[in-house]
Amino acid sequence: MSTVKSKIEQLARAGFKETIAIRRHLHQHPELSFEEIQTGRFIALKLSEMGIEHSHGMAGNGVVAVIRGNKPESKVIALRGDMDALPIKEANEVSYRSKNEGVMHACGHDVHTASLLATAKILHSMRNDFDGTIKLIFQPGEEKSPGGASIMIKEGVLENPAPELIIGQHVHPSLQTGKVGMRPGIYMASADELYLTIKGRGGHAAMPQDCIDPIAVAAQILVGLQQLVSRFADPTIPTVLSFGKIHSEGGATNVIPTEVKIEGTFRTMNEAWREKAHKKMKKLAIGIAESFGAACEFSIISGYPVLHNNESLTTKVMEFAQEYLGAENVETLPIRMTAEDFAFYAQEIPACFYRLGTGNPDKNITAPVHSANFDIDEDSLLIAAGTMAYLAIRLLEK
Ligand code: NI
Repeated sequence: MSTVKSKIEQLARAGFKETIAIRRHLHQHPELSFEEIQTGRFIALKLSEMGIEHSHGMAGNGVVAVIRGNKPESKVIALRGDMDALPIKEANEVSYRSKNEGVMHACGHDVHTASLLATAKILHSMRNDFDGTIKLIFQPGEEKSPGGASIMIKEGVLENPAPELIIGQHVHPSLQTGKVGMRPGIYMASADELYLTIKGRGGHAAMPQDCIDPIAVAAQILVGLQQLVSRFADPTIPTVLSFGKIHSEGGATNVIPTEVKIEGTFRTMNEAWREKAHKKMKKLAIGIAESFGAACEFSIISGYPVLHNNESLTTKVMEFAQEYLGAENVETLPIRMTAEDFAFYAQEIPACFYRLGTGNPDKNITAPVHSANFDIDEDSLLIAAGTMAYLAIRLLEK
């Protein structure tokens, strides 16, 4: 494998400058989830320039490319990169700062796209060096429910040809550039949106006996719901319940309002418990409201599922990453309570979602994703493109 490795290293290095330029172009022109019109066109154009077969338009702006090696039927695998940006105003004063005011690639999806294009270029020029077919999925809408992944799957991205496994990567500012990290098994949480409306009866705050105070009821519900985490959740299953918004319709220092709305998120690492918890939360909230004579409407929008990294695939990915980067540069990561729509692919076929180290405290690059100061050490693009190309070729081996 050492010849394959050195060939990939060479090609990654040869394309490095262009990869940086592509990443900067994407960074300057970020587009929100499901609005990635220019981004999709740009990806398709780059693939055309490289002479790589592709189709454009799945889930709106998605692009799917196919690279066939020798014996293309022998094995099919998929590589995935997402492409959407976030509604954040970039605070970085860099030459490649976002030109789309209020929109920013603050989750590194520009990096994922640029490095997947670089990987495509490497694999295309090495197509006589491997057996099988590589499908490259440039996915829109990762940041917005129901997630571009779920739509692409519905539209047949995992068919014709059907990949038997999929890998994807994500930037990780807390991991040093030069390293990658991953975790076999359960890795990221499910995430569901909670919307509660508590209806009481408003009136003069001096005469609470004539009212049904939805604020007092909301307070009981918020405290009561936390018992779900402390008393109903299996302590061995990580569970988070956080409320980020509460407001009343009307109300003043001397007015009890009629209605209170609450919004929150429920996250966990077990699908059976997730389903049970939804029912339990509704029962608790509605029961508490009723006991005060109020009513509670509780709607839950199910978001991304638990992300499960297939154990045997992830173990292989770790081993191959060690071959490419050295054992000292591959880390086992802890679980995370954030969510990722890559989990939808993992429900369908063996999947591995790994992290690319993009941080560098020496260069003062430490800001977390989804922040206005997020940026990467661009040296990570060299690692990203080469590692994914190497993983792809190794995973195609029978
Ligand atoms: Ni992301």
